[in-house]
Parts: sequence; C-alpha cells; structure tokens
Amino acid sequence: MSAPSSTPAPLPSAPSALPGAPHLHYRGGALHVEDRPLAELAREFGTPLFVYSQASILAALAAYQRGLQGRRSLICYAMKANSSLGILRLLAQAGCGFDIVSGGELQRVLAAGGDPQRTIFSGVGKTRDEMRMALDAGIACFNVESEAELDVLDAVAQAHGTRAPVSIRVNPNVDPKTHPYISTGLKGNKFGIAHERTLDTYRRAAAMPGLRVVGIDCHIGSQITQEAPYMDAMDRMLDLVDAIEAAGITLHHIDFGGGLGINYNGDQPPQADTLWPKLLAKLDARGYGQRTVLIEPGRSLVGNAGVCVTEVLYLKPGEQKNFCIVDAAMNDLPRPAMYQAHHGIVPVQPRSGEAPTTWEVVGPVCESGDWLGHDRALAVQGGDLLAVLSAGAYCMSMASNYNARGRAAEVLVDGGRARLIRARETLQDQLRSELGLDAA
Ligand code: LLP
Repeated sequence: MSAPSSTPAPLPSAPSALPGAPHLHYRGGALHVEDRPLAELAREFGTPLFVYSQASILAALAAYQRGLQGRRSLICYAMKANSSLGILRLLAQAGCGFDIVSGGELQRVLAAGGDPQRTIFSGVGKTRDEMRMALDAGIACFNVESEAELDVLDAVAQAHGTRAPVSIRVNPNVDPKTHPYISTGLKGNKFGIAHERTLDTYRRAAAMPGLRVVGIDCHIGSQITQEAPYMDAMDRMLDLVDAIEAAGITLHHIDFGGGLGINYNGDQPPQADTLWPKLLAKLDARGYGQRTVLIEPGRSLVGNAGVCVTEVLYLKPGEQKNFCIVDAAMNDLPRPAMYQAHHGIVPVQPRSGEAPTTWEVVGPVCESGDWLGHDRALAVQGGDLLAVLSAGAYCMSMASNYNARGRAAEVLVDGGRARLIRARETLQDQLRSELGLDAA
C-alpha cells in the first residue's frame, strides 16, 4: 500500500483497514484504485459501482505464473468468481485458460475471445446440450463428477462422432477447514467421485469408445487459508495416480483445482508463488514432475482486486443498534447474507477529526439478512461514499435482481484509465424477457 501524499484521517488509512488490496490506497485523503479516485468514478458512473484494479488482477496471476515457472502448466481461471467479459478478456490476453461450469460460461469465454482448447468443464450437472456445445467448441477436458455422467458423456460423444477428453474429479476426503458451504472435497459433499471408487471408474472410462482419458482432477474447497489441506490432498491424489497408471491408464495432466484463500479480514493464506513450488516438489519426488499441471484459481485472481462503492442513504441511530443504510444490498454483495462473510468497509473520503460510531451497515432490501457489515466503526454522514472491500470475487457473478433491483455497473481501472466494462442494468433490461401481459 502506498503512503498517502498529504495528511489523511488516521483511522481508515491504517494498513489493517485495507486488507490484501495492493492497488487500493488513500492519496490526499481520498481512496483511489490505482490512480483513480473512487469518488470521481462514483460521480461519473453512479453507485453501487464495482471497481477493479487491472494491476491487482495481473499481479495475482503473476504469483501463480512464478509458482509454476518452468513447468508445462495451464492456469484455468475459474470464471464463476467473476465472469464479466472485461475480466475474462484481460485474463485471456494474459495467457489464462478457463474453468467453466455451464454452457453459459462457455458462451462467455467465446464472447470474450478466450480459447476453447484451453477451457475445461467442471460441475456435477452438465446437460446433454451443454456437453454437445462443449464438444462442438473443442474444449480441452470434461471434469467428470459421477459414473452416471460418464455414461451420458460417452453416449453424447459417440453420437457426435468424437471422443470426449475426460478427467475424473476425485473427492480426496480432505478437510479444507473453510466454511461448510464452500468445502467441496469431503465425503459428505456432492462433488467428485469417492477416493475408493476412483480406480474402478477410471477402468470403466478407459474402456468407453466415446471417451479419451487425459487427466485427473480434484478441488477440495474455497477460501482455504492453510497449507496443510493442499499438501494432504496432493499426497492422496498422487496415491491415486500411482494406482491408475499401474492399471495401464496414462494421465497426461494433473488438475489440482483452485481454492486458495484471500485476505478478507487479516487472513494470511499461503501465497501462490510459495505454495506451488512445495506442491511441485511432491510431484517431482513421486516421479510426476514432467506431467502438465492444471489449476483452477478463481477468488485469488480477482477477489482482492475489486471494491464496491456505495452511497450512504440514511443514518438511523437506535436504542440497540445504529443502522447505516447504503444503496448496495445483498443482491449486489450476497456473501455476508449467504456465508456470514466479512468484507472490510471503509470511507471513500474519510472525515478527519470526527469520532467514529458503531454501525450496522445494511442495504435497502426487505430482509433482515440484508446486511453488509456488523459493528463497523465509521465516522459517516448521509451522502458519504463507502467502499466494500475484497469484492472482486463472488459478488457481481452472484448478483441478482431481488427486489427488482438492477445489477450494478462495473469499471476496470488501469493506472489513470477507467473503462466501463458493464453498464448499469436498467429496468428495461429486466423487463425485456418477461412475457404474457396481453393474455392476462
Ligand atoms: N474449481 C472448482 C471445481 C470449483 O468448484 C471452484 C469453486 C473453483 C475451481 C474456484 O475456487 P476458488 O479458487 O475461487 O476458491 N461463492 C462462494 C465460493 C464458491 C466456490 C465454489 N467452487 C463464496 O463466495 O465464497
């Protein structure tokens, strides 16, 4: 974080107030993303407004590229984290492939100019139509999640006159020590094929005329902040690779999924450029150093690069709680309501010399669950702008029209240049696909 150039208000510019956001800083008492003041962007584009730092995204990607340096590897951005075309285009141009989970995501990759041959398809419920679309596009690999899916993909590929490249997603039964809703590699989760069933499943897949086995895949969870679950999962994966290859089935690539956490609230997750050399050392030690390594990072590429700028609509002090009502809500930022997630909230233009009050920061949606932050110490007045931090991942991509609210606009900042990458959704946009009023 760069130091402010003039005397700023001390409270929000303290380093701990801006977790994990290298390109977000106070300058002259005003919060900037790279070289653009957020207040100016809010004036130009309105609020709520998502603003992303291009340099932050590229720096996060560079950490993975350093970690995998010298290896045959492919970084497949898990675009569910943020599937806006401007972000996809940036990452495609920086050399990323993509991890998709629906036909819609495939269409987005193609619309953004991404390479289908560097695209892999995960997810437990691929439809026949989606499989056909992905075969037409010539994707690199289907990450198959059940034996039933294997049968369907075999039939679809035979009818298509091709052999579908497949990897089987293994559930290694490793506890990622994260929120239960975002842990995916435990026995009780719906994802992947149980460790014990893996070898038999590979044998079946290898015998199917519509399939071509190319790799193995796992993903144990998201927002992982410790190293140990990764190390354990790698050991368990490599045990399986030994067994599968001993059965005469060659695995050209090893896909280790995504999941690396980010700093929301003082979290200290492993860094990609230090974690990956340790994981690669395990591959080397087991004789698999020459295999192509695939990874599927989502949150860690974009999460800390984004903020959501929101305007304070009303202050409503109360006997038990003080409410700070802002114009962003759970439809824009669903993570607090869904996972009790913490996002930092800081003023865009701090009020120097004013004592902070403790606020419940809430949105206008008619739900008590519509909160963005509990017990936040802020010196704030109606009309002020606040920035909700670490909002680059799983915010806009999970946004909805609940309460008939249009989805926010998005801006990508590169140094002093700010580009609108998504216009604010209008009511016309929302009404366009609804039919039947005439018949009523
Ligand atoms: N690969 C697969 C197969 C996945 O299921 C996921 C995430 C990823 C990669 C990317 O994981 P990441 O690197 O982003 O942790 N909405 C939740 C997160 C759900 C993650 C689901 N799967 C949240 O806001 O915390």
